[in-house]
Amino acid sequence: MSDQTSVDRQRKDDDIVCPGCRSSAPGGFLTTLTRRGAWLAVFLLLIAVPLGCAEEPKPEPVTGILAAMPIELQMLEGQLQGKRTETFLDVAFHTGALNGRKVVLAASGVGKVNAAMTATLLLDHFQPSEVLFTGVAGGVNPELAPGDIVIGEKTAQHDYGEWTSAGFRPQPTGKMMPLFMTAPERLLAIAEAASKDAALDKVPTTQGERRPRVIRGVIVTGDVFIASPAKNAELRQVFKADAVEMEGAAVAQICWRQQVPCLIIRCLSDKADAAASADFEQFVKAAATNSAKLTLSMLSLLAKSK
Ligand code: ADE
Repeated sequence: MSDQTSVDRQRKDDDIVCPGCRSSAPGGFLTTLTRRGAWLAVFLLLIAVPLGCAEEPKPEPVTGILAAMPIELQMLEGQLQGKRTETFLDVAFHTGALNGRKVVLAASGVGKVNAAMTATLLLDHFQPSEVLFTGVAGGVNPELAPGDIVIGEKTAQHDYGEWTSAGFRPQPTGKMMPLFMTAPERLLAIAEAASKDAALDKVPTTQGERRPRVIRGVIVTGDVFIASPAKNAELRQVFKADAVEMEGAAVAQICWRQQVPCLIIRCLSDKADAAASADFEQFVKAAATNSAKLTLSMLSLLAKSK
């Protein structure tokens, strides 16, 4: 074989194996090593990439918890472990853990606009896997008393609609929007199970104390404090409401738009009647505490379910 023929064959081998190494690969033994190295690298990549993907840790789920007033958040905030605070648009969001569940807590302020803004900030900044709203409400169901709890199976805005000479007609807040937001069955079931474990404060009655009733029910929301037997009767008749408050349906709507499960939990502080303002002052703390206790008990169950 002439020298030229041997050089040509060497070039062909290099072309196939490693075009980029032509000048540095002297041939035979090293070329084989380079080829083995390349196959080994491909093999390792094929193993490592899927393994790496499988091991990527899922972010721990976080439960968003909102209330309107600081007094409704007080107990939860007091028990928060590893508390850190971040503020957006003047709303303080407290992160940490409660009963083994990662949470973020915020007091929205009273009314639908404050509640909707805070819910939007919560979803945008913290991506909670579910949102719970805890706090107090006026009773509309005549069988309930201050201290009893309504778990919001359905929520609606009672002050959104059309006033005509025939009276007020409630309407959904958008073409695609239902009049009533329905809470997810999973959260309703967890709340009911939690109510059996929660050490709820007793309800005072004329015949002594009794354990609070916890019912699934209809919660209606509007930008007014109801202290009128006539309006109360209307809310019962038109919406079959069990409780009335000022934030829940707004938060449920924001969550519904973003497909985040949401549950409104309310403990009655008054009966939305002529005595509502006085009853509210008397019972707000005890009612806020009962709602927070049920929420805490739900967090234990959510922590076990992750
Ligand atoms: N929150 C507590 N009591 C209420 C009432 N009577 N009306 C509206 N919101 C309330």
